[in-house]
Amino acid sequence: MDNAMQPEDTPELRALYKGFADHHLDPLWTQTGNLMPVHPKPQAVPHVWKWSDLLPLAERSGELVPVGRGGERRAIGLANPGLGGRAYVSPTLWCAIQYLCPGENAPEHRHSQNAFRFVVEGEGVWTVVNGDPVRMSRGDLLLTPGWHFHGHHNVATEPMAWIDGLDIPFSQQMDVGFFEFGAERVTDNATPNYSQGERLWCHPGLRPLSQLHDTVSSPIGAYRWEITDAALTEQLLLEDEGNPATVGPGHAAIRYMNPTTGGDVMPTIRCEFHRLRAGTETPARQEVGASVFQVFEGTGAVTLGGDRHKLEKGDLFVVPSWVAWSLQAETGFDLFRFSDAPIMERLGFMRTQVEGG
Ligand SMILES: [Fe+2]
Repeated sequence: MDNAMQPEDTPELRALYKGFADHHLDPLWTQTGNLMPVHPKPQAVPHVWKWSDLLPLAERSGELVPVGRGGERRAIGLANPGLGGRAYVSPTLWCAIQYLCPGENAPEHRHSQNAFRFVVEGEGVWTVVNGDPVRMSRGDLLLTPGWHFHGHHNVATEPMAWIDGLDIPFSQQMDVGFFEFGAERVTDNATPNYSQGERLWCHPGLRPLSQLHDTVSSPIGAYRWEITDAALTEQLLLEDEGNPATVGPGHAAIRYMNPTTGGDVMPTIRCEFHRLRAGTETPARQEVGASVFQVFEGTGAVTLGGDRHKLEKGDLFVVPSWVAWSLQAETGFDLFRFSDAPIMERLGFMRTQVEGG
């Protein structure tokens, strides 16, 4: 705020301000600029985490730290350097690398917080969601929506790492979280190729007549890589044929969808997948709310608030609110993305600005 607008500093004014402090009051006129900036000025900062740093640390955790009741998960949260050391990747979102050794069980529990897993490499873990075992394989998006029991077990001979995304910071700051322990070990050791939810729901464009009620989160436990890959491949082929299919030249993209509503997979988290042809550059975008990207395949770069960062498979980066971002594909470039956009849109806060748009 302009200092010229401030009252003259007098003993009487100081006494007034002491009176405010004594009664737990804080006047608006001394802090307007911080409370109401002309555009979002996030404390969270843009940051890149290299997979080549994360994976060895997760592997070392696998050697030193047991997984079980109490700790619940061997998950290592990405702590945004602007957020005071908390494991918040943004004010709303949590992102962690989770690691499970052969034969290990991550016990069942449930919580209000919505969660997903995305698998950048590996296989051999099944996540049991409300009693339904769901296979985890490379490129799959797995959902464990709020208040669904879930545990993980690794039936393979190799360890497996993946990323977890949750709305933990949002839930914590809004004081909405409940938590309950479940079974010490997963309640179903079966390892089916497809979960019950997929068998019921994953037939394109078809809705079971037994399931006509809408659900707040998607009933699909796993969105398989084969289907995501085919959808992106077809968008680029359609573009080649001169049909409108991509979001921009050389840029195919999909949003994972709750088939009961056509909306986002969970009420607080949006998930997308983006594929760029080699050489494609996207226009700079600014959006309200935070996003996290993980490179799935290929090499390229992201420009975040004016700084360019090279990226390769597994690398993660966070885009805080209103920070301009653009992608540059060196090779064919595949990226998974999640964001808090459903919160921002539902509450009417969303704004988007695109370079040249
Ligand atoms: Fe959990």
